[in-house]
This record gives sequence, structure tokens and C-alpha cells, in this order.
Amino acid sequence: MIDAERLKKNWSLVAAHGDQVPLYFYSTLFLTHPETRDLFPMNMAAQRDKLVTALGAVVSNVDTIDEVVPVLQALGRDHRKFGALRGHYPAVGEALVATLEHFSGQHWTPAIAADWVAAYGLVSATMADAADAAAHYTPAWWDAEIVAHDRRDLETAVLTLAPGTRLDYAPGQSVSLCTNLRPRVWRHYSPANAPRADGTFDLHVRSVDGGQVSSALVSLVRPGDTLRVGPAFGSGLTLRHGRGPVAMIAGGTGVAPMKALIEQLSIAPRPTSLYWGARTPAGLYCLDDLQALAAAYDWLEVVPCVDEDMFGSGIAIGSPAELAVAHGRCNGADVYVCGPPGMVESSRKHLAGSGIRAEAIHFEPTGE
Ligand SMILES: Cc1cc2nc3c(=O)[nH]c(=O)nc-3n(C[C@H](O)[C@H](O)[C@H](O)COP(=O)(O)OP(=O)(O)OC[C@H]3O[C@@H](n4cnc5c(N)ncnc54)[C@H](O)[C@@H]3O)c2cc1C
Ligand code: HEM
Repeated sequence: MIDAERLKKNWSLVAAHGDQVPLYFYSTLFLTHPETRDLFPMNMAAQRDKLVTALGAVVSNVDTIDEVVPVLQALGRDHRKFGALRGHYPAVGEALVATLEHFSGQHWTPAIAADWVAAYGLVSATMADAADAAAHYTPAWWDAEIVAHDRRDLETAVLTLAPGTRLDYAPGQSVSLCTNLRPRVWRHYSPANAPRADGTFDLHVRSVDGGQVSSALVSLVRPGDTLRVGPAFGSGLTLRHGRGPVAMIAGGTGVAPMKALIEQLSIAPRPTSLYWGARTPAGLYCLDDLQALAAAYDWLEVVPCVDEDMFGSGIAIGSPAELAVAHGRCNGADVYVCGPPGMVESSRKHLAGSGIRAEAIHFEPTGE
């Protein structure tokens, strides 16, 4: 019987060593199993660590593995796009255990070691089995051509991608992608339309300061270039069934999945309010498109809002969550929230503080 509580305690002790932990993990992995090096970005220093953090957190939560089996299976299927093979899993497991031992010092015991090995075995088998099964019916990744690149302003572009084979997704989901200008660096983006007959989809990309992938997607890639795209994932923002009102609270390119949801809602309309915020009016890069939708659909209202309006455009000042709550649009509604991590966090706090039930608030955990 694995003592998961002991694993969690051990992981928090180790994680307290911060950046030293992934540094040790990757040095060990690449030294003992050099064949794994080619799966990771060239510049690991600029890489945000996701794998090691996930490894510790996921594996030490082995006591609730039954609840997260579908998530682990999706993660395993998704790992095919990295080139992760069944034979790589023991290598990662050994590097994990060596790292844990190194940082646990005197707290390391044979019993803890045995529990980590057993827990890792369960988690990695779930992932690797799902990956093997998926190989029979879905590609490891999709090569998608950029068929349009519409630069909306200095920071934002709308890209239209045409995958060589159809890539299924539900409105509200995201895909990860990688450009050969930044090899093996994967980032997530959300299709901004419901699935089309021709399989193309739009992505809205905002270039963040010093951003490796977003700046390349906004400024460097061109029509005709190919991106590598991973399978669709996430259920946080997919449409919940019902007939009641819908409130959408979006910041910046967080409007992309909302646009996809609006297209889905057009088949079975519900009263829908989209509150979309940017810092200044210039940041509302697709307001015309949204206003055209609001003019076409009598069940849809679009309320733009900004933090500051120096030139008196008349756009409402305030955050989308504050305004939607103040206008009573969240009462009894399914509320969807998407935007930069800080905006999602503050919106959720505001909604909860305004008495909106947690079960009615939907968002995609970003892990960023
Ligand atoms: C589920 C999901 C869906 C997403 N959908 C979209 C989308 O549709 N459109 C879109 O433009 N982005 C989206 N993102 C964000 C996107 O995945 C990248 O994080 C973003 O493009 C930055 O990547 P980068 O490689 O350019 O920056 P990095 O090189 O990773 O980061 C550069 C610097 O910017 C900071 N930074 C990173 N992300 C942000 C941010 N969002 N806001 C402020 N600072 C940041 C980092 O901390 C770092 O200091 C989504 C993220 C998730 C998790
Ligand atoms: C129990 C086993 C594992 C878990 C829980 C796990 C978990 C994760 C998670 C959550 C991410 C971030 C994914 C994303 O943001 O899209 C990730 C990234 C990655 N994983 Fe794994 N992983 C495991 C095993 C492996 C193995 C065996 C390999 C192959 C060597 C591997 C290679 C990678 C690579 C290349 C990345 C991308 C680099 C990065 O973003 O850090 N993983 N992993």
C-alpha cells in the first residue's frame, strides 16, 4: 500500500528547493539517458519548468489516481507530440527518484523510495498505455499550414491554420503548437471558431514582452509556413448544457474561445452577454467582428470595456467581471472566464465575492 501522504510531504520538502530541482532533474536525465535530450528545447534555461513540477505533484497524488485517469490518459496521448516513447518513461522515473533522493537528504528512506517507484509505475503505465492505444487512431501531431496571417496591431495577429488531416476539437478547448523558429518549445492557443467543414481554424495571438513563441507567431511567421499542432485538450471552458443565460468575461486574446462558444451557441441560442476588456480601446482588436455578431444575433450582447480611455471613445471603464456583475448579467448564468492568468484570478475572486456560486464559474486552469 503506497503512503501517498508521505509522498506529498516529501514532494513539498523537495519542491522548496525551487529552480535547483528541475536543474538537477534535467542534468541527471540528460547525463544518464542522452537519447532524451532531443525531445526538449535547445535552451533549457529559458524553458518554464512544467514537467518536473507536474511529475512531483501528479505522482504524489497517486491516492486519487482513479479520479484523474482520463486526465493522465489525455496527457499520455498528448506526449506523443513530444516524441515520448514507452521506453523513455523508466528513464524519467529514474531521474525523478534520483532528484528526490538528492534533495531529501536525511529524510530519504528505502520505504519512501519504494513508494515513489510504485506510484510512478502506476502513473506512467496509465500514460504510456493511452499513448500506445491512440497510435492506432490519431496522429501524434498535425502539420498545419498558415493560410492567413492578419496582423491586427503591433501586438496581435489572427492566424488561420489548415491542418493536413482534420483536427477535432470542441469550442472552448485549446491546442498546443510549436514553430520551427523555436524548435520544441510548445505553447497553448485557443481556436476562435467552432469547427468548420474545411477543418481550418483561427488563433488569436498576443505577443508578450520577451515571449519566445508569441512574438514569432505575431511578427515572424508567414502564410505558407507550417506549424506543428498537438491534440485539442481541456474541458474547463467547454459549453455546459442548459437553457439559462450565459455570461462571458474575457480579457485580451481570452476572447478567442468565447467567439468559438458564441458560434456554437448560434445553433441553440441562449441569452448571452460577452464582456470583453483591454487596457485601452486600441487593444480591442476584433471589436468590429464581435459587434457584427451582436447585430446578427438578437440573443447576444457585446460590452467592450477598458482600464483607461484617454481619448474619450465612450467605451465603459472597468474590468469585465466588475461590469458584468454590476449589470446583473452573472445572476443565474453559466459564467465563462478567460484571459491572462492574473485577470482570470481577479475575476474569479470578484465573482465569488459577489455571491456567484463556484459551480457556475468556468475557466481553464492555465498552469502558468
Ligand atoms: C489553455 C491556454 C490557452 C491559451 N490561449 C491563448 C490564446 O488563445 N492566445 C494567446 O495569445 N495566448 C494564449 N495562451 C498563452 C500562451 O500559451 C503563451 O503562454 C503566450 O503566448 C506566451 O508564450 P511565449 O512563449 O511567447 O512567452 P514566454 O517566452 O513563455 O514568456 C515570456 C515572458 O512573458 C511572461 N508571460 C508569459 N505568458 C504571459 C501572459 N499570458 N501574460 C503576461 N505575461 C506572460 C513570462 O512569465 C515570461 O516572463 C494560452 C495559455 C493557456 C495555458
Ligand atoms: C509520469 C510521467 C510524466 C508526467 C506526469 C509528465 C507530465 C508533463 C506535463 C504536465 C508537461 C507539460 C505539458 C504541457 O504544458 O502541455 C510535460 C511536458 C513535457 N514532457 Fe512530460 N510527463 C511525464 C513523462 C514524460 C516522459 C517519459 C517524457 C520523455 C522523455 C516526457 C517529455 C516531456 C517533454 C519533452 C515535455 C515538454 C517540455 C516542457 O514543457 O517542459 N515526459 N510533461
